[in-house]
Amino acid sequence: MAHIDRTLRTPRLILRDWRDEDLAEFARINADPEVMRHFPARLDTSESDAVAARIRHHFEKHGYGFWAVERVGGEPFLGFVGLAHVDFEASFTPAVEIGWRLARSGWGYGYASEAAERALDFAFSEARLAEVVSFTALRNKRSAAVMERIGMSLHPEIRFDHPKLPKGHPLSPHWLYHIKKERWRKLKHGR
Ligand SMILES: CC(C)(COP(=O)(O)OP(=O)(O)OC[C@H]1O[C@@H](n2cnc3c(N)ncnc32)[C@H](O)[C@@H]1OP(=O)(O)O)[C@@H](O)C(=O)NCCC(=O)NCCS
Repeated sequence: MAHIDRTLRTPRLILRDWRDEDLAEFARINADPEVMRHFPARLDTSESDAVAARIRHHFEKHGYGFWAVERVGGEPFLGFVGLAHVDFEASFTPAVEIGWRLARSGWGYGYASEAAERALDFAFSEARLAEVVSFTALRNKRSAAVMERIGMSLHPEIRFDHPKLPKGHPLSPHWLYHIKKERWRKLKHGR
């Protein structure tokens, strides 16, 4: 089968397919306590590799996923930003989420928002989705700030308890955001 180029570009970033060479840096990112502060646990190398394998499988199945993020003329792998089918059942699923995880060295430059805007464009044009959701533990202010920066707003349900975490776990309550195609078009193209 011919290779399909799923690379997306922004002024400063390349959103591309994953490579085996990304795995070592991804494992370092997933082992960083600051990056994983709002997750239940850091990941060891085999868990990190398993996440990357699931992401690659998602690309094969759906033609999009959490893209590997490369900086133009800079770091070959900063982490991921992209789209994924929500892998649990909740009142708002089935749904496609937008998500991000960058190395700490890549925070504070607007890279997550820049990549996420390109991914949203892809979601509403190439992938022809009608709506994209996003969610984050309540105390993950940086992640919620990305959602707001790219034009997402709180979903009518506002909050939910993440079904993969035990009831009462401090990370279980999540903000739920969303954006519909019409709002994106208005924000982006004024129509
Ligand atoms: C969530 C995460 C991706 C956000 O990263 P971030 O750098 O805060 O977000 P952005 O890339 O949008 O950058 C915004 C920051 O860059 C600054 N910035 C600098 N240059 C900029 C530019 N050209 N354009 C936009 N913002 C710019 C902004 O002012 C803002 O800084 P502030 O936080 O001091 O206000 C990052 O914290 C992360 O990977 N966290 C760990 C994983 C995680 O929690 N993922 C989400 C799970 S739900």
